[in-house]
Order: sequence, then structure tokens, then C-alpha cells
Amino acid sequence: MKIAVIGPGAMGCLLAASLTDHHEVWLLDHNPERTALLNRQGLLLENDRGRSKPRFVKVVTDPRLAAPVKLAFLCVKSGRVREALRTARLLCDRDSLLVALQNGIGHLSHLAELPGDIAWAVGVTSQGATLAAPGHVLHQGQGITRIGLTPELSASADQTGEMLILAARTLTRAGIATEPVTDILNHVWAKLLVNVGINALTVIHDCPNGALLEIPEARAVMAAAIGEGCEVAGESGIVLPGDPLKAATEVCRATAANISSMLQDVRARRATEIDAINGALVLKAAEVDVPVPVNRELTRKIKEIERAYLDFP
Ligand code: PAF
Repeated sequence: MKIAVIGPGAMGCLLAASLTDHHEVWLLDHNPERTALLNRQGLLLENDRGRSKPRFVKVVTDPRLAAPVKLAFLCVKSGRVREALRTARLLCDRDSLLVALQNGIGHLSHLAELPGDIAWAVGVTSQGATLAAPGHVLHQGQGITRIGLTPELSASADQTGEMLILAARTLTRAGIATEPVTDILNHVWAKLLVNVGINALTVIHDCPNGALLEIPEARAVMAAAIGEGCEVAGESGIVLPGDPLKAATEVCRATAANISSMLQDVRARRATEIDAINGALVLKAAEVDVPVPVNRELTRKIKEIERAYLDFP
């Protein structure tokens, strides 16, 4: 099967390398120098058992070289979704399914603007993947990936439903355990609230995830930020699976030594995903009229930190 992965970050490289044993995989990168490098060196996966042999996929900047594909996985950071959807539109036709795997909820409105003939699904993953260097993924933890159709698509979803099952089987066979679910937005929000409670605080305290549990002030802010998020979720018709504060605490313990994606972005002086996480929650809260002062303040602090290096590189 012909599959495209859009975005050569940690998750994109992990999917592309894992899928390549059984499929024709195309990896889309907007950067021509990195494209050449990845074609030369291949993709490397490293876990606690060692490093894999390089896996070679076709890395291209021009989506027309790969189109049409049966499945396309959108693995760019949330802030790049709008631009990456232009690539997705060139890759997909009526028989394709686009699966978007972003943190937060900022990407959902961009996906909803896709033309009706492009079928799309969203997913949340708890794979632990970090990029050590371009194309070199440290794969530090396996967790379930869930994918599903959003309510807008579910009504017309016979064929799309079959594609969703195909996408889940394809990922699972490649070693990325994936289940199709009927309530994906509930899972997207559950993951959002974990990120709401952890990511910004790791930046403010400049610490790995596990250390947050040792700082009483951080724990109090985590509980307050997630509490606000639960209220917004409830007012937005979301039914959260499980207790999000417990989930965030467990993630901190399970990934104690990990540097969160937001702290990695700040240390590398890149734009963070604050707008898709706490920032998106603040916008949603305004729609349903729930006060969220703690999330507003977390968003303000991260934007201030970000501005200091983005404005003066
Ligand atoms: O964004 C991240 O870093 C991850 O989603 C999580 C779960 C916080 C673990 O580091």
C-alpha cells in the first residue's frame, strides 16, 4: 500500500520507519537539505535494546511525486498544520484517509475546513519518541494510539469507517498498537488535559516531567489548570474517560526523566505548542463562558518566554 507521512519529526520518522517493511512509504519534508540527508542516511530507530539498521523511505518535498496515497499521516507540530494541509490535499484523493496526530485541539478547526472529498480522522498517541538528530528517533516508550472520526464525518462514514479500521490494522502490524474508537474527541481532550497540566509547568520550572511532582507549587497549579480544563470540557459536551489529574500524575511518574515536548522546544528556541494546548483551552473557555485564570496565566508566561528568543534570535 502507498502511504505518506507528512513531517519528519520524531513521530513522523517513527511511523515512516516502522511502516516501511510492508509498504511503499513516502516521507514529506518541506526542507530540501534535510530531505537530501534523510535519503542518504535513512531513518534510525533506537530503543533500550539498541539501534536499528537504517530504514530507507522515499523522502520528498513535492507531494505530487507521491500522490495519490491510500493513507496519509499528518505528523507536523500543531502550529504547522495549516501549511501541511496544503501538502495533504495534493497527496489525497477520494479513496484516501488522512489521519492527523497532533497534541492539543488547535488543529481541529483547520481540519474542519478541508474540502468534503477529503476524508480525515484524528488520533492521539502515547508513543514516547524524541528526535536525537534528523531522522534519528529515540523510541522510549510504547503506549496505545487511538484514532477515530469526528462527529462531522461520522454521519457519512461507511467507507471512511473501513479506512479507519485499515489504518488501525496497518499501524498495529507495524508495531504501533492502535485501536479505532467511536469517541475520539473525548480521548483528544483527555490527552489535552495531560498536556495542559504538564507542558507549560516543565518550562516554568525548567525541569523533567517527574520533578513537577516534587514541587508543591507546581502540583497545586497543575491541579488548578486541569480542574479548569475539566469544567470547559464538561460545558463543551466532552465526556472525559477517567480522571485527568490522576492521568497527568501517572504520566509524570511514567515519563519522570523525559523532557516535555514544550521544554524541548524552548531549549531549542523553537515556537512552542502553547496556542494548541493551554491557549486553545482559553479560547474554548470563552466560547462556553467558563473563567480559566490559571490557564490564561500559564499561556501568558510561556508566550513571554517564547517572545524573548523568537523576537531576538
Ligand atoms: O508533550 C509531551 O511531552 C508529552 O505529550 C507528555 C505526555 C507531556 C510527555 O512528555
